[in-house]
Amino acid sequence: MIRPAVHNEAATLTEIALDAKRHWGFPENWIKHWESDLTISPEFIEKHHVYVTEQDGEIRGFYALCLADNKAELEHMWVTPAYIGTGIGKELFLDAMDRAATMNVNAVELTADPNAAGFYTRMGATQIGATDSEIEGQPRHLPRMKVDLS
Ligand SMILES: CC(C)(COP(=O)(O)OP(=O)(O)OC[C@H]1O[C@@H](n2cnc3c(N)ncnc32)[C@H](O)[C@@H]1OP(=O)(O)O)[C@@H](O)C(=O)NCCC(=O)NCCS
Repeated sequence: MIRPAVHNEAATLTEIALDAKRHWGFPENWIKHWESDLTISPEFIEKHHVYVTEQDGEIRGFYALCLADNKAELEHMWVTPAYIGTGIGKELFLDAMDRAATMNVNAVELTADPNAAGFYTRMGATQIGATDSEIEGQPRHLPRMKVDLS
């Protein structure tokens, strides 16, 4: 079941985002560095389109769509590690695209973790650029991706 998140689920969603990021084996100090970006606040849930998938009373993943300037950004897309590879990401992604299509935008963009870029490509996204960043002297090249809804 995919349903809107409620504000008191912020801590649970933050934990899922942090655990999912850890799935790729990043050092814990990198996770710490990204912690504020991965923190979901109650205010964020109230302001943006945050949806969770829940089974057997357990939230197993979520996404967040943020609208600005007639564009939609897929800001978060995280699956609880125990359920990665079981089809939850696909369900969430397709739900996000369906929802975006009702929001008067003609494309959804996102910045992908390089490890997840293959997933987005599989879901039909195309790379339109990249965002370069650096952490502890190591360059990171983050694919910028787009799904055309028109
Ligand atoms: C990326 C993520 C959301 C995908 O969700 P998932 O539930 O594991 O993916 P699914 O099982 O629904 O896979 C759907 C399809 O994408 C493919 N796929 C999934 N992850 C992939 C990856 N990392 N690279 C390439 N293909 C991938 C699957 O093989 C499947 O293909 P199929 O339709 O041919 O069977 C999930 O793995 C995750 O949360 N990862 C850790 C956190 C993360 O990086 N999130 C994204 C931040 S930008």
